[in-house]
Amino acid sequence: MAGHVLIIDYGSQVTQLIARKTRALGYYAEILPAGLPLAEPLSQKPGAFILSGGPASADDPDAPTLDPAILEADLPILGICYGMQLLAKNLGGALSGNAHGEYGPAEFYPEGDAAIFAGLTPGRPTKVWMSHGDRVVATPPDFRVTGRTDGLPIAAMSHERKKIHGLQFHPEVHHTAEGTRILENFLRDAGLSPGWRMSSFAREAVEQISNTVGKDKKVILGLSGGVDSTVAAALLFRAAGDRLHCVFVDNGLLRPGETDEVANALSSCFPNLNLKVADAGAVFLKRLEGVADPETKRKIIGHTFIEVFAEESRKLGKVDFLAQGTLYPDVIESISPQGPSALIKSHHNVGGLPKDLGFTLIEPLKYLFKDEVRALGKELGLPEELLWRHPFPGPGLAIRVIGPVDGESLDLLRKADAIVREELKAFGLDREVWQAFAVLLPVRSVGVMGDGRSYGRVVVVRAVTSVDAMTADWARLPHELLARFSSRVINEVPGINRVLYDISTKPPSTIEWE
Ligand code: XMP
Repeated sequence: MAGHVLIIDYGSQVTQLIARKTRALGYYAEILPAGLPLAEPLSQKPGAFILSGGPASADDPDAPTLDPAILEADLPILGICYGMQLLAKNLGGALSGNAHGEYGPAEFYPEGDAAIFAGLTPGRPTKVWMSHGDRVVATPPDFRVTGRTDGLPIAAMSHERKKIHGLQFHPEVHHTAEGTRILENFLRDAGLSPGWRMSSFAREAVEQISNTVGKDKKVILGLSGGVDSTVAAALLFRAAGDRLHCVFVDNGLLRPGETDEVANALSSCFPNLNLKVADAGAVFLKRLEGVADPETKRKIIGHTFIEVFAEESRKLGKVDFLAQGTLYPDVIESISPQGPSALIKSHHNVGGLPKDLGFTLIEPLKYLFKDEVRALGKELGLPEELLWRHPFPGPGLAIRVIGPVDGESLDLLRKADAIVREELKAFGLDREVWQAFAVLLPVRSVGVMGDGRSYGRVVVVRAVTSVDAMTADWARLPHELLARFSSRVINEVPGINRVLYDISTKPPSTIEWE
């Protein structure tokens, strides 16, 4: 897509927000880790660069550098924080390490009439968010200062003639009051046109998949019931029709009615969709018997899934393509300058399929963020209930029955979990909460029921708020709702006599217990 924005990532925690904000304004943006060759990305004819922030000190000999091709391309450039310092350093300005740094909110005073601050009043302060150690102490030749804060005389700079700007603060974060306007000013002044819409993405993606898949090749897709694979299925169905084969592996670790719910919703939207439900619960449960270690459980489930999926695929004869609902954050993470993050849990997907199947991978959502996937799903006609389902892990309830998994424990957990989700919905809080579910502990506690002693199992309710599952906070649910969870679970699920609420954040805890 020519005329898009190329964001060079120098390792800031918030680089993704630049892309999200830019796209939300209607301009397509891609992120490229600093240090990768620019020849190919430049051949796609981007319309502007944004240089992200980053943790390094630009004067440090090991710090990431500004690729000369960026300046040679002669395109509009916005340098944010570290990006501004790189511009200053490379164009003849000067930097200074700052003993104190500046972190958090600051009042920013725009100066003069720089196009990037159109709509802001010169001299009138606006709240911005800072996070820097170094600072620019002398602007390069041909640049002028376009804003300051109380502690920072050069908080923004712009080239006198070219469309090159530096901002020491972060316009991409929510806490910068005029951040969106400033980004939009830059993009508009750069001469880009805001044509990025889900409808155009859907049209182009369908066209691209049709070209790749051709007229007679088959595609297989593992449906998990989650938003990503469902939207991928809808998109692929538009492109490949009855040559798309969706396989839903029922691993016996799902919530009550889950298989039917997903299958019915999809077939009512797409009556001719090929959907095969592979009923493999017994195999999964047999292999999990007596296994308590979380990683071993995950591995068993992952391997068994692959076996079942491969078997279903073989039944279809020659299948050329395997489609996956990989999202942009996963792609960025795996190519980020920091490299793939440390393994916390083995996430379960269909990677690792036997080579003899000879699939070529298609990942039609790999440039989208979660909220964009939901918008795309809406564009493709999927119902809201499907698009707003809470994430559910591939290993299913097996990682929510702590310790060994058996039919009886799964049954208790299913009943408790259904109550938790039902009550959350009844309180109208299911969209505010990222995920809410029950976890069954392998301990027993003493209680008193009627006139007798009980010795029952313990359920934990986990409800978190999050934007991307990378970090999460425990949801501050109303006490009346917590009371409903506890009284209903204890009264309606025989065998459970205690309910706890999990008040741990991620990090250091994780969302799931295993
Ligand atoms: P954690 O527990 O790592 O979970 O904080 C982060 C998010 O990922 C989901 N999750 C999984 N999703 N396969 C998945 O598809 C998995 O193996 C898996 N493990 C955790 C979890 O529900 C949360 O939304």
